[in-house]
Amino acid sequence: MTNSGITDLNPQAKQMADESMVRNLEAQARAIWPQEVEFFRRYELPKDARVLDAGCGTGEIASRLAELFPHARVLGVDIVDGHLELARSRYARLASRLYFERQSVFDLQAPDRTFDLTVCRHVLHAIPHAERVITELVRVTRAGGYLHLIPEDYGMLHFQRTGLDPRDFWHTAAPAFGDKTQTDLFIGRDAFGILKSLGLREIIVDYVVVDTVRVPRETFATIFEAWRDGYADSIGEQTPISRDSAVAYFDQMIANIRDPLGYAVWMVPVVSARI
Ligand SMILES: C[S@@+](CC[C@H](N)C(=O)[O-])C[C@H]1O[C@@H](n2cnc3c(N)ncnc32)[C@H](O)[C@@H]1O
Repeated sequence: MTNSGITDLNPQAKQMADESMVRNLEAQARAIWPQEVEFFRRYELPKDARVLDAGCGTGEIASRLAELFPHARVLGVDIVDGHLELARSRYARLASRLYFERQSVFDLQAPDRTFDLTVCRHVLHAIPHAERVITELVRVTRAGGYLHLIPEDYGMLHFQRTGLDPRDFWHTAAPAFGDKTQTDLFIGRDAFGILKSLGLREIIVDYVVVDTVRVPRETFATIFEAWRDGYADSIGEQTPISRDSAVAYFDQMIANIRDPLGYAVWMVPVVSARI
């Protein structure tokens, strides 16, 4: 695949490679993993399982999977070289069975039916043709193996209403951004149907609840600060909401999260199935 081909298929290339994304992935992992790990524990994997983390970013989760399954071989693939380099250096201690390679999720290099567990977190909402990618993930997973997805959905965030109503922001910004980038920012609710239509079995839809009761407020706020810093410019360019207005909405959501009397929640779908 040419570089321009990769860029066309990665409309958030700039944001994905930004330093704010590194902060975001670190905070997201701290917020989500403690609940998500229980879903991983349910899978009946062979001791020497082969695990793929497709669109692995900085290796936050590939490294946690290598630690959770101490005899597994874990491969993380991504198209941002900086993330891969960071992952290799941060998790060098696991290098004998944790690998990071530059590969596109549209065109994985593994033969059919290679992996016992194929993971794809926080990627499907950010790329066009998500169904093509899911088909590719299924291809590389062995019969009886597991697919584990986090397909984000920007209709599953709820905040208290004060000055600005965050519902107006998400209601306007998410569909407009998706239209402009040919991505589905509401794919969380569609994932079940996609997996069903691909003939997968044992489909489970779980939720990690990132809220101000379960997750430290500072961790939750860090995710929103990173989104603000990484996305406000492009929201201003791609949607009817101006950059300044996007910053104001994010700042209000962050204040709501930090308010000791405030409550906010991000429902994160975790969708799994067996091949
Ligand atoms: C929001 S990050 C999630 C990272 C990681 N899965 C996690 O949960 O921490 C999305 C990642 O998908 C990667 N990505 C986007 N398009 C890709 C593609 N076509 N092939 C491989 N990775 C891709 C981005 O570079 C980015 O690192």
